[in-house]
Amino acid sequence: MDSSTLTAPAGTRGDRLLGRKVLVTGSSKGIGRGIAIRLAEEGADVVINYNSDPRGAEEALAEVQALGRRGAIIKANLGTVPEVRDLVARSAEALGGLDVLVNNAGIEKHAAFWDVTESDFDAVLNVNLKGVFFATQAFVQQCKAAGRPGKIVNISSVHEELAFPNFAAYCASKGGVRMLTRTLAVELGPLGITINSIAPGAIETPINTRLLNDPVKLQSLVRQIPLSRLGKPNDVAGLAVFLASRDSDYVTGTTYLVDGGLTVFYQEQ
Ligand code: BGC
Repeated sequence: MDSSTLTAPAGTRGDRLLGRKVLVTGSSKGIGRGIAIRLAEEGADVVINYNSDPRGAEEALAEVQALGRRGAIIKANLGTVPEVRDLVARSAEALGGLDVLVNNAGIEKHAAFWDVTESDFDAVLNVNLKGVFFATQAFVQQCKAAGRPGKIVNISSVHEELAFPNFAAYCASKGGVRMLTRTLAVELGPLGITINSIAPGAIETPINTRLLNDPVKLQSLVRQIPLSRLGKPNDVAGLAVFLASRDSDYVTGTTYLVDGGLTVFYQEQ
């Protein structure tokens, strides 16, 4: 066997997802954009969703199309249920059905617990948990109506497990996603629908701008990561390919950490 087939570099185009129709929420930037492009590299047609970054969405779509795949851009705020439902319906219309939903859109707000406002709490929970809940519900309704199986991939966080002081609402939302993933694995299994979560650690994306601009905080975080660096969106995207592909057909209700070892690294002071 030609050994080069075993050592294909990351990003090499394959056909593991040929013809699969995918919606990636929040895919104009960061992890979502990395996933959208990586899935297209494997043959998927992809709907790019954005809320505040139309230019990023255009760039992502151009990359999807340059790979020879079909795509569309749909604007929707994941924190508003009618927009979420409309996004899923229009995505299915644009691609002629949906096989995979990647619930990626997410936000976080920094504040001491005693200062968190109701509007910030609602903003975080609405996008990170309510949006995931109702996007998943709309996707499942599509699958049921079409009599097709489906795959749901949630982009959670190490903070579905690890404490994150000053981000209590964010942690509560990701803890909610963890239990939603487990519960829906049971409820949706009989429909042939799988649901799993990816829990990224510190990834270089716009959500981390504050951290990336603070060399002291950044260094102290990198010291807690056994692989000694922050991750990149592409570090997360490879696992999304697996979870969107037939290779994961017997996997459901699970969270995969993609964190360079951060979660399991206990350092005695
Ligand atoms: C958060 C980042 C944080 C990282 C590691 C992510 O879920 O969005 O702000 O740096 O977890 O703590």
